[in-house]
Amino acid sequence: MSEHTLAIYPGSFDPITYGHLDIIQRASAVFPRLIVAVLHNPHKKSLFSFDERILLIREVLGHMPNVKIDGFEGLLADYVRSTNAKIIVRGLRAISDFEYEFQMALTNKKICPDVETVFMMSGEQYSYISSRLIKEISMLGGDASYFVPGPVNRELLKKLRK
Ligand code: PNS
Repeated sequence: MSEHTLAIYPGSFDPITYGHLDIIQRASAVFPRLIVAVLHNPHKKSLFSFDERILLIREVLGHMPNVKIDGFEGLLADYVRSTNAKIIVRGLRAISDFEYEFQMALTNKKICPDVETVFMMSGEQYSYISSRLIKEISMLGGDASYFVPGPVNRELLKKLRK
């Protein structure tokens, strides 16, 4: 690894959670440069629009000198290639994540053989957090503030009132 090594942390981030933040903080301590790459998929229904997800990540991350936020559309492998990065970072929460992640990592390896997927285990306090459950809790009137930073909870509550 050189002082310029770039890693890509891709995801939907709908919305960003404490679990994602944990991975971003830890990955940015390991890799000299990190891009948080937000998927823009016009065909997939998301609670937060692409722009809202980017704005929330920006607000929550604040200034991290070696972390950039970017968006991508289409194949992750193509995006990674366009950045010249050789590393994809993914968080692994539980065994249940394994199959999906294994499939994605192997598929990406086939399409882009010179790119490695590196997994980081989520911190134990974050190992059960998922954006899907957080949205459900919030939409059903529960308190999601244990799982997401203040600004995300604020926006979840706004969505609820709409
Ligand atoms: O946070 P998520 O939803 O688990 O992230 C999944 C993501 C965005 C990394 C994955 O769906 C993806 O890479 N999508 C882009 C399309 C693509 O490359 N698909 C093939 C993956 S092997």
